[in-house]
Amino acid sequence: MQISKVLSLCALSATVVLGANNLVQKVKDNGIEAIPTSQLELLKLIDDPKDPITDAKVELGKKLYFDPRMSKSSLISCNTCHNLALGGADGIAAAIGHGWTANPAHLNSPTVYNSAFFKAQFWDGRSPHLADQAQGPVQAGPEMAAPPKLVEQRINSIPEYVNEFKFAYGDNVKISLKKSRQRLLFLKNTHYSFSF
Ligand code: HEC
Repeated sequence: MQISKVLSLCALSATVVLGANNLVQKVKDNGIEAIPTSQLELLKLIDDPKDPITDAKVELGKKLYFDPRMSKSSLISCNTCHNLALGGADGIAAAIGHGWTANPAHLNSPTVYNSAFFKAQFWDGRSPHLADQAQGPVQAGPEMAAPPKLVEQRINSIPEYVNEFKFAYGDNVKISLKKSRQRLLFLKNTHYSFSF
C-alpha cells in the first residue's frame, strides 16, 4: 500500500473515532443513559417488590406472548405484530389485526424491544407503564379482539397453563389477564439481547 493511502486511511479513522466520541458526549449531555449491563442494576429499574420478577413468571409470559389462542380467532398472537425475529415489529405500514383488518388509525406496530424501560407507551404516549397496557392488545378490536372472559376460560381449560400459573404465582392464584404481565417477557428479551 502506498504511504499516501495509509496516511489518508489513518486520517479517516481518526475522524470517525473523534466523530463517534462527540456523538456519545452529545447523547449524554441530553440526559440519555445506556441500559445497565448488569442484571442487578437492570432489575432496580423495573422490578416491582410487590410482584417480583421471577424466572417462572418470565417463562409463562413468554408462552402467552407466542400463543394465538389468546385472540378471539385463535390466529393472532402478540408475535404476529411484534415479531421478535423482525426486531419486535412487523415491518408493514399499518398493523393487520382481527379479521385481517388494517389498523383504523393507520398505526404501525412499534417495537416491543426494551419497552419495559419506556416512561410512556404507544405512539401518543397515553399509557405510562407496560403493565398498565398489557391487557389492552388482547381485548382491542383492531388487534386480538378477545373479551377477558374468553381468554380466562381458554387459559383455565389448558391444564399446563393452570399448573404454570400456580408455579409462578402460588396455588391460590386466580388466573386473569392482569396476571399475564408481558412486561416480564420484554425483560427477558433484554437479557437475550444483552446476553448475560
Ligand atoms: C394486530 C397487531 C397487534 C397485535 C396482535 C398486538 N399489538 Fe401491540 N401494538 C400494535 C400497534 C399498532 C401499537 C401502537 C398502538 C398505538 O400507539 O395506539 C402497539 C403498541 C404496543 C406497545 C407499546 C410500545 C411502544 O413503544 O409504545 C406494546 C408494549 C405492545 N403493543 C405490546 C403488545 C402485546 C404484549 C401484545 C399481545 C398481548 C400485542 N401488543 C399485540 C399492534 C399490535
